[in-house]
Amino acid sequence: MAGRSSGRVINSRMSAIMAAAVLALCSCAAVTTAQLEMDFYSKTCPKVEEIVRREMEEILTVTPTLAGPLLRLHFHDCFVRGCDASVLIDSTAGNVAEKDAKPNLTLRGFGTVQRVKDKLDAACPATVSCADVLALMARDAVVLSKGPSWPVSLGRRDGRLSIANDTNQLPPPTANFTQLAQMFAAKGLDVKDLVVLSGGHTLGTAHCALFSDRLYNFTGLENDGDVDPALDSAYMAKLKARCRSLSDNTTLGEMDPGSFLTFDASYYRLVAKRRGIFHSDSSLLTDPVTRAYVERQASGHFADEFFRDFADSMVKMSTIDVLTGSQGEIRTKCYAINNH
Ligand code: HEM
Repeated sequence: MAGRSSGRVINSRMSAIMAAAVLALCSCAAVTTAQLEMDFYSKTCPKVEEIVRREMEEILTVTPTLAGPLLRLHFHDCFVRGCDASVLIDSTAGNVAEKDAKPNLTLRGFGTVQRVKDKLDAACPATVSCADVLALMARDAVVLSKGPSWPVSLGRRDGRLSIANDTNQLPPPTANFTQLAQMFAAKGLDVKDLVVLSGGHTLGTAHCALFSDRLYNFTGLENDGDVDPALDSAYMAKLKARCRSLSDNTTLGEMDPGSFLTFDASYYRLVAKRRGIFHSDSSLLTDPVTRAYVERQASGHFADEFFRDFADSMVKMSTIDVLTGSQGEIRTKCYAINNH
């Protein structure tokens, strides 16, 4: 009897070990750094980082409000088919591309990506992928907004497919914690990455239409009192004064009012005060782990830690399901696949 039960224990331990191994394999498949290299272009385009940085300085000097959109473009690229610049491709007669799907209609900055790509192609023709350009531009957007820097390993190849329906992998602003955690896990990112990367909402603006359900139609009643109880009431009044109705789809609000052009930890102070703009931001308070992180950062004493965490999570995000080696192609125009 004793022998049989210890056999069962060993068997169940073995299955636990095997399950852990399978899980580890799964997350490696989603986040892979294989074949990306820091000095990937050292011989073929040695000044790649310098050229991108110089262009980004010019772009953000003229239009500082593009920092947020360029960071968001990289996020939306990586979550759909991996970081392969599929988000940049235009629709064609036979194909509705990611760009034209609902979650991507508010993306901006496409023209600047092509501008940087053209500069790189002038220095080193047909060498640097649009996916690498986007990863570098997102990093530089954060650095130039006074945020942290991180090493961007290079060698991503550009994808040849972009399908509108695939954007269902992007978390919607209405998502609750469970949905967010699942959607991040599907990309090999954990709940710490979720709470840290949500800090990207320290930059940029949001359209009223993407959060006005919280102000006027939280349960479908469509009236002034139908509000999201998770939103601070004083803040709600401010948002209502800016976003006058449910149908307003043109007005923009700063996500981190007062410092929406500066990358800092103030996003967490807002969320802790129940002033996060989206339901997804508020939902970080509904889980003990993410809530603890929000509260720690809201204290204002650990910004260095947030900067390091953000850099680490961006390194993970920017390597999701990348194409390398002979996969994909190096696009000439970031908005169209090459004609072969
Ligand atoms: C956690 C799930 C997330 C949800 C549900 C979400 C949702 C949204 C939505 C709805 C907007 C407003 C777009 C507009 O109205 O123009 C937005 C903006 C933005 N998001 Fe997120 N986001 C998430 C995560 C992230 C991550 C991981 C990053 C980057 C690390 C990011 C960076 C940004 C930035 C910078 C903006 C401002 C864009 C601009 O100024 O045009 N977001 N997000």
